Amino acid sequence: MNLKEQINREGLPRHIAIIMDGNGRWAKKKGVERLFGHRNGVESVRQVVEAAGELGIEYLTLYAFSTENWRRPRSEIDGLMTLLTSTIANETRKLNKNNVRLLVIGNVTDLPNSVQKNLTQAMKTTSENTGLQLVLGLSYSGRWEITESVKQMCKDVRSGKLDPDGVDSCLLESYLTTSFMPDPELLIRTSGERRISNFMLWQLAYTELYFTPVLWPDYRKEHFYEAIIDYQRRERRFGKVDEKPRAFTVNN
Ligand code: IPE
Ligand code: IPE
Ligand code: MG
Repeated sequence: MNLKEQINREGLPRHIAIIMDGNGRWAKKKGVERLFGHRNGVESVRQVVEAAGELGIEYLTLYAFSTENWRRPRSEIDGLMTLLTSTIANETRKLNKNNVRLLVIGNVTDLPNSVQKNLTQAMKTTSENTGLQLVLGLSYSGRWEITESVKQMCKDVRSGKLDPDGVDSCLLESYLTTSFMPDPELLIRTSGERRISNFMLWQLAYTELYFTPVLWPDYRKEHFYEAIIDYQRRERRFGKVDEKPRAFTVNN
């Protein structure tokens, strides 16, 4: 039985998030410049978007550029931004055809105008699509997001719109850039690194984490299926005790 058929369609995660990592190491292994790795990562994005859409996953968040990534060499940042602009422009038609809606989380105003323009256009073109909701993390980090939310809450308290006694975790959630979607049930990180790197710090509280050594440019649909199958074998308890009926009980 192939991997796709092993997936239980009844128990799919609603939201899968991916930290796409390892482009630089992939390029280094081949003796080429880092940007070549980033360029080859685009095919992996196509693969997971297609796979998620075919399976009927509701939300797919791809961490493409972090707040901290602005500290990389100017040439790499420029190359990434150019790649982003061209990829969005080239892929929008296909996204639309596949009923995929493009959304963004992050400090979009930090991005170059050309990227912002293409993003706005692509989000508008795909805004009516009801299939996969594809969310790009761009100039995004968890700490940035929480800080911005707290700042906005303080402003709302000052203007009398918000009563501090009414603040609870649901309310804080409504201020996050991710308020339109459920928390991810599954987080995948490629390239063998086992860390969160400032991604969705609030939302990952009870997310199942899946780490794979595969470098992002090598990531294919089968790897994505493997992660979902692994997720489906896990027992999520959320701090409670296992409530599933036991096959046998202790005699006393
Ligand atoms: C992930 O690959 C892409 C971005 C963070 C933009 P990296 O560029 O981090 O690749 P490695 O980790 O250096 O191999
Ligand atoms: C995380 O990868 C950010 C993205 C994939 C966009 P990094 O490569 O920037 O993370 P660190 O530096 O290894 O923690
Ligand atoms: Mg990296």
